[in-house]
Amino acid sequence: MDAIRIRGGNPLRGRIRVSGAKNAALPILCATLLSPGTCLLRNVPSLRDIHTLAALLRFLGRDTEVGEGTVAVRAEGANVRPEAPYELVKQMRASVLVLGPLLARYGRARVSLPGGCAIGARPVDQHLKGLEAMGARIELDRGYITAKGPDTEKGRLRGAEFCFDNVIVTGTEHLMMAASLAKGRTVLSNCAQEPEVTELAQVLNSMGSQIQGAGSHQITIDGVDELRPCDHIVASDRIEAGTFMVAAAATAGDVIVEGASFEHMHGFVSKLRDAGCTVTRDDDGVRVRRDGPLRPTNITTAPYPGFPTDMQAQFMVLMCLANGRSIITEMIFENRFMHVSELARMGANIDVRGNTAIVHGVPNLSGASVMATDLRASASLVIAGLVATSHETDILRVYHLDRGYEHIEHKLARLGADITRIKDARA
Ligand code: EPZ
Repeated sequence: MDAIRIRGGNPLRGRIRVSGAKNAALPILCATLLSPGTCLLRNVPSLRDIHTLAALLRFLGRDTEVGEGTVAVRAEGANVRPEAPYELVKQMRASVLVLGPLLARYGRARVSLPGGCAIGARPVDQHLKGLEAMGARIELDRGYITAKGPDTEKGRLRGAEFCFDNVIVTGTEHLMMAASLAKGRTVLSNCAQEPEVTELAQVLNSMGSQIQGAGSHQITIDGVDELRPCDHIVASDRIEAGTFMVAAAATAGDVIVEGASFEHMHGFVSKLRDAGCTVTRDDDGVRVRRDGPLRPTNITTAPYPGFPTDMQAQFMVLMCLANGRSIITEMIFENRFMHVSELARMGANIDVRGNTAIVHGVPNLSGASVMATDLRASASLVIAGLVATSHETDILRVYHLDRGYEHIEHKLARLGADITRIKDARA
């Protein structure tokens, strides 16, 4: 199995381009189930999760072609089988987002429950409650969600008012898709405002949906009878961009992250600046430099536009090298400190108390063999390896990394990192 080997100590310098956003491409690929014809997505990152979803779309009867940065999904002549099996859904939770589009388009669907996740329980109760508010009849049976439309209107979902108990990105996306083909108006409240939600709404509106308010806490969707195919260029990945910005800061480098959108990163950029980094807009993106000591900085993760939970692990590595104590509070997921014990193997000094980690800065980290446990934890271990001054770092189980980062070792090597992918039987 693959592992990543890093010899740390090189400041990262130069320009790096960000790939398309995984968390935008995945729901948009699910939305292709809502329309006839051929949908085309461009600037799609070549990631394991994208290939998993493409396999699911094929299983559902869609002719799906993954090309160089593109995915084409053809509905013509499709013999639809609105069923998503456990074998595919267990590989990637976001697969559950096919449920709403299948139900809205075909009046029935059977989709495996996604099951547990390393970072938390991650239930989908709010997704199902929202679909039931639109008239869906839902049963859970042996790990599967069986859904049928209301027994009126040929099973067509109907518009409804629904308020989420808590802010849920994929929940908001899911109900927006289902409501697009429902009869009447749907009003969703306490919605997620993430840029990926806004992007999905733009794509759905380009397909003929009538969505207003995306990017705010309240979204209104006036259902239509039919949608048309989309042709969309996926926006850059703000979490991949943030990961490179932290890597530049951690190595006291100077990097321009091309394609990064400053506007989508305020909650994160302000903390990088508090930590002593110089962060500026650049024609093509964002520039990050650090030439002074790192200052301890407290963060609390929150829904957008707050500090993204998907940047918590990476920012923790930065605080491991700060001149003092930082407090990191994880408010979104109940088990997102799996990287702490691996960082401790590299000499970090971190106390975890419930959803709070107290990070005591140390002069430096040292290389070691460490285990990736989830996507963003693995990114934090890569950054730790880049700064570790003595010994090399081997990161095992990098399949976690490949789920969300496209060719990360090549990109970092272009910035001067000594990083290679190796075969390692220990993984
Ligand atoms: C999206 O997940 C992202 N995934 C996650 O990115 C990201 O961490 C998360 O939003 C928060 O920003 C995609 O967009 C594909 P959740 P989402 O599991 O919306 C609770 C990454 O690293 N909840 O819904 O699926 C849940 O327990 C990934 O790229 C309910 O209570 O996140 C958690 O506390 C990881 N009931 C919170 O909401 C529900 O029905 C958000 O969790 C659903 C969720």
